[in-house]
Amino acid sequence: MVGTTTSDWDPESYDSMPLPHLKWGDRVLASLNPTPTDLVLDAGCGTGRDTAKVLDIVTGGGVVALDRSESMLKALKKKLGNDHRLEVVMADLNSELSLNYQCDAAFSVAALHWVKDHQTAFSNLFRMLRPGGRLVFDCGGRGNIASIESVLAELQVSPDVWNFAGVPETKENLSKSGFTDITVSLIEDTIYIEDRNVFEKYISTVVLPFHLDQMRAEEKKAFLREVLERLPSQQIDYVRLFASAEKPSN
Ligand SMILES: C[S@@+](CC[C@H](N)C(=O)[O-])C[C@H]1O[C@@H](n2cnc3c(N)ncnc32)[C@H](O)[C@@H]1O
Repeated sequence: MVGTTTSDWDPESYDSMPLPHLKWGDRVLASLNPTPTDLVLDAGCGTGRDTAKVLDIVTGGGVVALDRSESMLKALKKKLGNDHRLEVVMADLNSELSLNYQCDAAFSVAALHWVKDHQTAFSNLFRMLRPGGRLVFDCGGRGNIASIESVLAELQVSPDVWNFAGVPETKENLSKSGFTDITVSLIEDTIYIEDRNVFEKYISTVVLPFHLDQMRAEEKKAFLREVLERLPSQQIDYVRLFASAEKPSN
């Protein structure tokens, strides 16, 4: 389903949410630790929250903000578009990609579980990095949002828009793509959203936008109500796949 869907995100609603993505982005950037002159790739940049943080760090470098969503990139450009150190690239990580230059470092936050073909995505990231360049990423990993997946299974709705990979296959895919110095772990990161209205909006905007997009307006409401009623609590049982790897320096 991913890679073929024409659905898109709602950037305004997305940015209004209490996103744990802020913390996930900070964790990734702390590990990547870019230097002020680096050219850094943000793969699946969305509305550019982490892109902005990196622009503040790479005062003498730049950022390549890559995403396949027109609406998310439009929101990013509205916020950051006139910074000459920023290049915005609309591209799909599921297809073979390369840039006509290489980046010093690459990162991705909460995006790669939307990418069906991790092997292709990692090979793309490998090509876009210079020798010696590092990749650090966070995304949903094996066991992520298990309670939501089990409600979707009860409702016989195919949850296969996601790719929640585990540690062994991620190590293997990174290694097959040419990366070395690989570390991969799964981190349990459950969140609880107290306000019922915010929880409902969060589920529809951040978790199930593509499931809902495929339904007619009247179906959407009923489906969302059913999901919310069946969920055991207003908890989202996130499990993050956190990885870092290096492109060998020849
Ligand atoms: C949940 S958002 C995360 C955005 C941002 N990194 C953040 O942390 O707020 C996921 C992003 O990944 C992008 N994405 C999903 N699949 C993609 C693909 N195959 N190629 C490029 N971008 C993709 C989406 O368009 C979306 O902007």
